[in-house]
Amino acid sequence: MSELKEPAKQEVTPENPSSRRDWLFSIGVALNVIAGAALAVPLIGFVFSSFAEKKDPRDWISLGELDHFPEKTTRIATYRNPYTRPWDGQTADIPCWVRRVSGKEFQIFAINCTHLGCPVRWFQESGLFLCPCHGGAYLEDGSRAAGPPPRGLFQYDYKVEKGQLWVKGGQMPTLSNPV
Ligand code: FES
Repeated sequence: MSELKEPAKQEVTPENPSSRRDWLFSIGVALNVIAGAALAVPLIGFVFSSFAEKKDPRDWISLGELDHFPEKTTRIATYRNPYTRPWDGQTADIPCWVRRVSGKEFQIFAINCTHLGCPVRWFQESGLFLCPCHGGAYLEDGSRAAGPPPRGLFQYDYKVEKGQLWVKGGQMPTLSNPV
């Protein structure tokens, strides 16, 4: 009966295949650690961001002199979104409807229909805001008159200061996040 001989142990050198395998294994482990860290950092940031203090995403922006808005009229006005990037261009110019009820009493409406967001238009003759998409209609005070919109137009906060009308803009109103 012949005895089984244990193979002679090979010395681990760069030329040795098992050494190369170890080296590749180490590289693999290192790459996995880097990939894990790259995934973990944003995830941890996301989890902890919910504990961070939320900043109001709106700001006061002047819509111009009060004289630009005669009493008992509704006019379009535009403000520049305060949270823009240089490449936003004209998309950062946000239109809104300004109704001057009397004196310093205003209503500032978001231009977007509360159904699916199409821009509504004011018709002085009929005293209605009309939506071109599905026929939604709103009264002059922004309340819903007819059609599919589930509610009246969204209204912005405003103030009159230094002879100017200021709108609190910067966040687009939605049904889940009305302004
Ligand atoms: S988007 Fe205005 S009625 Fe549908």
